[in-house]
Amino acid sequence: MSSYDAIAELYDPWSRSVVEDVAFYLEEARRTGGGPVVELGVGTGRIAIPIAADGIRVIGVDSSRGMLDVCARRAALAGVEVDLRVGDLREPPVDERVPLVICPFRSLLHMQTDEDRLAVFTGAHRLLAPAGRFVFDVFAPDMADIAQTQGRWLEREPGIFEHAVWDQQARTLTLSVRDDESEMTMALAWLSPDEWRALLEEGGFEIEACYGWFDRTPYRGREDTIWVTRRAGD
Ligand SMILES: C[S@@+](CC[C@H](N)C(=O)[O-])C[C@H]1O[C@@H](n2cnc3c(N)ncnc32)[C@H](O)[C@@H]1O
Repeated sequence: MSSYDAIAELYDPWSRSVVEDVAFYLEEARRTGGGPVVELGVGTGRIAIPIAADGIRVIGVDSSRGMLDVCARRAALAGVEVDLRVGDLREPPVDERVPLVICPFRSLLHMQTDEDRLAVFTGAHRLLAPAGRFVFDVFAPDMADIAQTQGRWLEREPGIFEHAVWDQQARTLTLSVRDDESEMTMALAWLSPDEWRALLEEGGFEIEACYGWFDRTPYRGREDTIWVTRRAGD
């Protein structure tokens, strides 16, 4: 049972305004010349379905059956197939070797320790064919973000509320989301870009680019980092 099961039906309305990353990941998928692409934490298919609709095979891994059910329904509506598998980010149930592994929309922040983060990186590395790439995005909050949201219920979308508790010492965010029918609380952990970089290198990746936004603007110290990495030494 995953905590996301409780908000599987709420996830799409909740994340409705998050659209800026779709074209970016689609472009990365197209760079492979046809895939297949593995998406770790595929969720409801926000990214996977547009990639599949472009004719590129996607294998989507997620620990939430509820999220995968919504994804399957959305894929059917879109008339595409996504190969959905229940599994963990750290041990994706995939035997194929692929040219691209992606982990969009900060899913890596669900990993709480360096050991877990490294397990995701080594797992992704294992899935990649020579010269294969691993692309993901994460964030670290700035002071203004913390000040604006700390301890308050804020209406993110009509009828959908978010509550953030930031622990700057532990660098964790306890984020709750609710509507009239459901509520769930998740724990997210953030790192500095230098720490992500060090872990990536330890996991066998070299960094092709670290962007600060999905338009490929270089990272200049803001909240988001978007990492395009490849297997080192290929
Ligand atoms: C923020 S959502 C992102 C979903 C999708 N990638 C998107 O861009 O909309 C995070 C997803 O990661 C999944 N997830 C969280 N922890 C996981 C784990 N340990 N193993 C597999 N999936 C996990 C959740 O179930 C959820 O679907």
